[in-house]
Amino acid sequence: MSENAIFPPSPEFVSKAHVQGMEQYRKLYREAAGNPEAFWADIAKREIHWFEPWDHVFEWNPPFVKWFAGAKTNAAYNCIDRHLEARGDKVAILWEGEPGDVREITYKELHRLVCRFANVLKARGLKTGDRAIVYMPMVPELPVALLACARLGVIHSVVFGGFSAEALKARIQDLDACMVITADGGWRRGKEVRLKDAVDEAVQECPGVQNVIVHQRTKSQIPMREGRDHWWHELEEGVSDDCPAVPVDSEHPLYVLYTSGTTGQPKGILHTTGGYLTAILMTMKWVFDLREEDVYWCTADIGWVTGHSYVVYAPLAAGATTVMYEGAPDYPDYGRFWQTVAKHKVSIFYSSPTAIRALIKQGEKWPAMHDLSSLRLLGSVGEPINPAAWEWYYRVIGKNRCPIVDTWWQTETGGILIAPMPGAVPLKPGSGTLPLPGIIAEVVDFSGNPVAANQEGFLIIKRPWPSMIRTIWGDPERFQQQYFSRIPGVYFTGDAARQDEDGYFWILGRVDDVMNVSGHRLSTMEVESALVRHPAVAEAAVVGKPHEITGQAVCCFVTLKAGDYDLPALNKELRQWVAHEIGAFARPEEIRFAEALPKTRSGKIMRRLLREIVTTRTVTGDVTTLEDLTVVTRLAAQNDEE
Ligand code: PRX
Repeated sequence: MSENAIFPPSPEFVSKAHVQGMEQYRKLYREAAGNPEAFWADIAKREIHWFEPWDHVFEWNPPFVKWFAGAKTNAAYNCIDRHLEARGDKVAILWEGEPGDVREITYKELHRLVCRFANVLKARGLKTGDRAIVYMPMVPELPVALLACARLGVIHSVVFGGFSAEALKARIQDLDACMVITADGGWRRGKEVRLKDAVDEAVQECPGVQNVIVHQRTKSQIPMREGRDHWWHELEEGVSDDCPAVPVDSEHPLYVLYTSGTTGQPKGILHTTGGYLTAILMTMKWVFDLREEDVYWCTADIGWVTGHSYVVYAPLAAGATTVMYEGAPDYPDYGRFWQTVAKHKVSIFYSSPTAIRALIKQGEKWPAMHDLSSLRLLGSVGEPINPAAWEWYYRVIGKNRCPIVDTWWQTETGGILIAPMPGAVPLKPGSGTLPLPGIIAEVVDFSGNPVAANQEGFLIIKRPWPSMIRTIWGDPERFQQQYFSRIPGVYFTGDAARQDEDGYFWILGRVDDVMNVSGHRLSTMEVESALVRHPAVAEAAVVGKPHEITGQAVCCFVTLKAGDYDLPALNKELRQWVAHEIGAFARPEEIRFAEALPKTRSGKIMRRLLREIVTTRTVTGDVTTLEDLTVVTRLAAQNDEE
C-alpha cells in the first residue's frame, strides 16, 4: 500500500461520532491552543467529580507542573461510585480467564469488591501516601487492588508479571514499599506462571515489606510465611462492604510505574490524580469515540502503562464495559482473540502491531472462523504499525469499515497525545496523524528549531498537559535532565519523527538507547548490566535489531573472560540468564561472541556501529573516532558466516 493512501471517515461513522469532521476537530484544537486554562477547566468540571474546587487550573515551573492543585478528588470514586446510580447494573469488567472461565462484574459489584479490599488494606495499617507493589496475573483482583489503593490514597506500583524476582526487588526497594499484593500464579499457554515464588525471592532483601497479600488463582501449593503472608480471601472474612473514598489533592500521587531509560536503572514515572484522570478520560472519548453501549477491549497487560490508562482508569472513569483477558493470544489456538471478540460482542478492539503481525503470520483462516461483525473501531499502540500490517488489520479484521486509530504516547505522557479522532481526521496507514486538542507537538532540530515538512527531527511537546509525568520517583534531577534539558523548557520525547505536508506525524523510533521489543520498552544498558553479572562475561554491548514480528529484537555482542567455553551451550545459558535477571520478555534473540567491541579512543562502546552492523550488515557511518577498525570488519564479517 502506498504511503499516500488516505482513508477519510465514512459518512455513516461521522454521523454518529462525538467529533464530526475536520472543522470540529480544528475548532477544538484552536480553542485549546488559544486558552488552555479555560479549555481544560471546562473539561475537568464536566467530566470529573471533585469534592472541592481548585485554586489554579495549572502552575507551570518547568520542568514541574501542577494541575488543578488544591482541588480534592478520588480516582476510585470517579471510576466507580459516581456511576452507581445510572449504571450500577452495567458490566464494568468483563473478564475471561485463559481456561475460558468468565466473570461479569457490574459497577455495583466492583464497588463492593473494592470497598472490601480497601478495608483489608486499612486493617493492615496502610494509609494515604504509603506504597504498595502489585505483582499479579490479569485477573479482576488486579484492578480491584489498584482501585482499593486509590480509594485510600495509597500509591500503587504495578510490576508486570513477566518481570523477574530481581527486577521486582529493585522496584520494591526504590519505592520503599511496605506491602506486596500478589497471587499464587496465573495461567499462560496452559501453564502456571508462578508469581509467589518470585515474591518470596525478592522480599528476602526487602525488610520494609511487612505484608504480602496473596490472591488465590491457580490453587497450587505455595509456601506462606507466618505473620507476613496472608490469603486475600481470609483477610476479607467479616470486613464491611463499605469504605468511603478518601478525598485527596488533585496532585496526590496515584501511581508510580517503572519504565526503561537510557541507564541500567529503571525509572519510576510518577502520575498524580486529577489531571491524569481528566486527560485520559477525555482522550478515551475523543479517540475511541466511546458510546454507552460499547464493549471495549484493550489487550494490553495492566503491568504496562497502556493497561493502567486504557484497561482500568479511562474506561471505568467513562462508565464503560472494559474487557480483560488473562492469557496468551495464541492459546488454545490462533483464533483466541477473534473468538473472544465474537463471544463478548466487542465493538472497540485496541491492540499492538506485534500482536497483529504475529497473527497475520498464521493466516486469514483464524479470523474467518469467527463473527467479527460487532467491531466498529480498531486501535493500535506501542510501536509504529507498518502499512502491510495496517492493511491486513483494516481489511481482515475491520472488514474495510472500521477506522484504525494509531495512538502515539508513552509511559511518561500518561495518555494518548497524537492520534486521529476517528469521526474527523482522515487516516494515513502508519501515521498517528494529528495531535489531540491541548497538545502542541513539533519536530525540531538539535537547537529546538522546527524542521521543514518531511524532514526528520526530534519530537517534542511544547506545553504541559494534564496527564504528563510529574517527576521520576526520588530523582527530580534525572527527571529534569532526561526530559527538559535537551531543549530547555520543553518536553523531549526521545522519539524521532517527521511531519508531512499535511502536518501528519510519522514516528520513526527512539533516538536514545531504548529498544522497543513487542511494544515493550527495554534499555540496552539494562540488558548489558545483566550480561556482565554473568561470571564468564567480560563486556557486553546490546542493540535492537529489526525483527519482522516484534519490531525490534535484542541482539547482544559479548566478549568473554579468558577460559575454555562450550560456546553453543554458553550462548543458550546467557539468553536464559538475561531472562532470569530481567524477565522472559527481555530474552535476547541473538548472542554474538566477539574478540573485542568497537570503542572510541576514550573507551566508549560505539553502539551506533553495532546497530548498523545488525541493521544494514555493513558499516558506512563515521568511524573516525574508532580505536581499532579491524574490530568492526571482523564483527561485520560474522554476518556473512550466519
Ligand atoms: O517510541 C515510541 C513508541 O513507544 C514508546 C513509548 O513506550 P512506552 O512508554 O512503553 O509506552 C508504550 C505505550 C504507550 C514511544 O516513545 N510508540 C508508542 N506508541 C507508538 C509508538 N511508536 C509509533 N507509533 C505509535 N503509535
